[in-house]
Amino acid sequence: MKKSTKDMSFIIVLLFLLSISKISTAIDTINTTQILRDGDTLVSYGGVFELGFFSPGNSRNRYVGIWYKKIPGNTVVWVANKETPLTSVSGILKVIEPGLLAILNNTNNIVWFLNTSTVAQNPILQLLDSGNLVLREARDDNPENFLWQSFEYLSDTTLPSTKFGLNYVTGRESFLTSWKTNEDPSPGNFTFHLDTTGYPQGIIKRGNLIVCRIGPWNGIRLSGIPNARQDPTYAYGLFMSKNRTYYWEEAIDKSVISRVTLSQSGVVQRMTWVDRIQDWVVYLNIPADICDTYKLCGAYGRCNIGNSPSCGCLDKFVPKDAQDWIRSDWSNGCIRRTPLNCSKGDVFLKYSGIKLPDSRYSRFNKNMTIEECKVECLKNCSCMAYTQLDISKEGSGCLFWFGDLVDIRDLSVNGQDIYIRMASSEFDTKGKRRKLLILSLTSLMGMILLGLSSMLYYWKKKKSYKKTARASHNEDHELPLFDLSTISKATNNFSINNKLGQGGYGPVYKGMLEDGQDIAVKRLSKTSMQGLDEFMNEVICIAKLQHRNLVKLLGCCIQGQEKMLIYEYMPNKSLDLILFDQTRCTLLNWPKRLQVVNGVARGLMYIHQDSRLRIIHRDLKASNILLDIDMDPKISDFGIARTFRENENEVLTSKVVGTYGYMSPEYAVHGRFSVKSDVFSFGVSVLEIVSGKRNSGFSAEDQHLNLLGHAWTLYKDGRSFELVDPYLRDPANPFEVLRLIHMGLLCVQQCPDDRPSMTTVVAMLDNEIALPPANQPGFFTERDAFLTESIASNSLCGTTITQLEPR
Ligand SMILES: *[C@@H]1O[C@H](CO)[C@@H](O)[C@H](O)[C@H]1NC(C)=O
Ligand SMILES: *[C@@H]1O[C@H](CO)[C@@H](O)[C@H](O)[C@H]1NC(C)=O
Ligand SMILES: *[C@@H]1O[C@H](CO)[C@@H](O)[C@H](O)[C@H]1NC(C)=O
Ligand SMILES: *[C@@H]1O[C@H](CO)[C@@H](O)[C@H](O)[C@H]1NC(C)=O
Ligand SMILES: *[C@@H]1O[C@H](CO)[C@@H](O)[C@H](O)[C@H]1NC(C)=O
Ligand SMILES: *[C@@H]1O[C@H](CO)[C@@H](O)[C@H](O)[C@H]1NC(C)=O
Ligand SMILES: *[C@@H]1O[C@H](CO)[C@@H](O)[C@H](O)[C@H]1NC(C)=O
Ligand SMILES: *[C@@H]1O[C@H](CO)[C@@H](O)[C@H](O)[C@H]1NC(C)=O
Repeated sequence: MKKSTKDMSFIIVLLFLLSISKISTAIDTINTTQILRDGDTLVSYGGVFELGFFSPGNSRNRYVGIWYKKIPGNTVVWVANKETPLTSVSGILKVIEPGLLAILNNTNNIVWFLNTSTVAQNPILQLLDSGNLVLREARDDNPENFLWQSFEYLSDTTLPSTKFGLNYVTGRESFLTSWKTNEDPSPGNFTFHLDTTGYPQGIIKRGNLIVCRIGPWNGIRLSGIPNARQDPTYAYGLFMSKNRTYYWEEAIDKSVISRVTLSQSGVVQRMTWVDRIQDWVVYLNIPADICDTYKLCGAYGRCNIGNSPSCGCLDKFVPKDAQDWIRSDWSNGCIRRTPLNCSKGDVFLKYSGIKLPDSRYSRFNKNMTIEECKVECLKNCSCMAYTQLDISKEGSGCLFWFGDLVDIRDLSVNGQDIYIRMASSEFDTKGKRRKLLILSLTSLMGMILLGLSSMLYYWKKKKSYKKTARASHNEDHELPLFDLSTISKATNNFSINNKLGQGGYGPVYKGMLEDGQDIAVKRLSKTSMQGLDEFMNEVICIAKLQHRNLVKLLGCCIQGQEKMLIYEYMPNKSLDLILFDQTRCTLLNWPKRLQVVNGVARGLMYIHQDSRLRIIHRDLKASNILLDIDMDPKISDFGIARTFRENENEVLTSKVVGTYGYMSPEYAVHGRFSVKSDVFSFGVSVLEIVSGKRNSGFSAEDQHLNLLGHAWTLYKDGRSFELVDPYLRDPANPFEVLRLIHMGLLCVQQCPDDRPSMTTVVAMLDNEIALPPANQPGFFTERDAFLTESIASNSLCGTTITQLEPR
């Protein structure tokens, strides 16, 4: 489209021969007998856009452009002769047969022209209300037959109804090019494209270099686009066919004036005109922050804008070059801490809350289910990851990545899941931790409490015991013993200022060891000496339990009358203090809440399933779920936990301990407990996490229902979404939320046999199995808890319940 004076004589001659009539009134069209002089304008039919000659900023150069007719300030959305300005005000715009649009200077030389491949009989140029300038056959206004349109030759702006992308038939790409300066619309440093190398995504380039990436398209939005709420004023989407791939937008509310512009510094901005202030307001910036810098953290790095520095490695990955990493050069990224070995059978681990990686080396399939994606990806050793292609509605299709995963960031809202190929040994998190720490007696507080003094007794009196135990189990476990002076110093001599709280077994203090590690110290009161040998056996077994979702015991201190347990310190304290606090609850956005549910589920599965020893916690509740700095949950307080022998499925107890509101009916009423009682407590916690409300003390409009009853009623009516914590409603993925509520209800079903095991729960959370319909929950009215005779009968899981079942 550069200026060309060669072989133009035909046109020029033509010009002199024609009788040229100057247009005067506002019209939107010119034909071959009319010209547009500098000073004249075309105005679209509805008066929305205007086309004419203008000078940008303080420049004296003249350009032909399109701007908003009704908005002050000459906001130019398209320029014809970007690189070939006129230097005087005597240029004209002209349509020349057979389908040529040209700008001529005062000596009648063509300074800019466009050529169409099709020959037209009677071509006309028309400015449409959409802002599209089209050249078409006078009698044919079918958009498919336009000879030429400015929407396919964009400047730095897209307008609603621009088809941003590729036309494979014409080979044209519509993309944005930044202006050089405010006074010079010629191509600047940046371009913005819909990249269709793999599954479509948006990329901003500086020359040939990608500087920022957004996407890929996920059925709802471009993955990682900031604050992309469902905009009521625009509908938008991705169109893909054999002939075209493009991103589109349509204004639903035609009164809203909005545009997307690529700034001179390479920022894609959505702007809306606000009448009240008579100015444009930017409400979307891409890149939004440093984490949108392309590949900032390298392969398998994960950028989190809340961290300093922002770059980190994905879980189970380590910096490729630790020295570079220390020097804040993250470009080499991360590598798997355990290398892949495809022949050994890899696994896929789920990573949540992320912006999907660069999809240039991706392939997709629109028909597969997520289970099929896994099978397919597993087949090809170079398939590094997969995800659901379309997360709208129930989710469908697969997107597969080949090669390293780059440009991943954490998203606090609208993050997605991706399943990344890992060595099979990474699946089992047991036994891979630091060797130093050793008897990670993680949890089992209760047993330690009960037997601490006996343990001490053994350690002191039978010094060989430890050795024996170690030898007989052939493992490197031992429980570090701390000096009283060390702990006293760490806690500032048990200063009142260090006191974190008062547990049932004594006060808890915060402390810091000399190496800087934060600790929590439980100072115990005297405990009994019963069941010594039996207890020691169990402790040795329990010593081998370690899991990232169980709070970790670092050691103990036994000196004189003092008996203390030393735990890792959890800076975010317990879940209830955040979840049920009106201001702090916003710290737990949807991905974080999902993370808490996932972690607790895995922790519970671990204690229920361990082959040698099965443990029932018996007191799972929000206040026993501690949160670490990343809000990763750790189950704590095993004060009343019970172990199960093999083949033992249910235990009867006459002493019912636990917390009202979390106790299953069969336990509270009959004293029968099993792993399914923990599942019940877990279900209650899940519903509390989704709703942000406590089960006990809950009040709905329907006074007699507790949270479970309320959730159940909404579920039956298909209104589960109303349960969601108002702080979550907007950003949460509705499908995920509904699924979680459904799963929570399955866990609190009245009949223990109906409740899923924790293994099944984990599979449900991983979207690996479909959810069966839920039956009525236990204790779903406040009264139930007191009118025990109604459920004390053996009809608990009998026909009575079946009759109550809905749909
Ligand atoms: C162009 O439009 C003018 C005004 O409507 C009309 O008089 C003229 O005949 C048209 N010319 C052609 C070639 O259609
Ligand atoms: C008109 O355009 C021609 C070709 O670009 C150029 O050579 C000529 O100098 C221009 N005349 C004026 C007055 O700008
Ligand atoms: C316009 O395109 C046609 C066909 O592609 C070609 O024959 C003609 O020479 C072109 N005209 C100009 C001025 O480039
Ligand atoms: C795609 O392009 C081909 C060739 O131009 C055309 O024949 C076909 O009708 C187009 N298909 C659609 C769906 O537009
Ligand atoms: C474009 O790049 C050049 C060369 O790097 C630089 O001098 C100029 O300032 C850049 N322009 C903008 C608008 O960033
Ligand atoms: C992968 O595993 C196979 C079978 O265990 C083993 O023979 C092979 O050496 C391993 N390859 C690598 C690169 O570790
Ligand atoms: C995908 O499913 C649709 C509708 O069920 C079907 O028409 C289409 O042929 C399928 N495509 C592939 C590649 O299997
Ligand atoms: C695995 O996928 C890659 C990328 O699509 C392909 O080139 C390769 O042929 C595939 N390998 C097998 C064994 O299917």
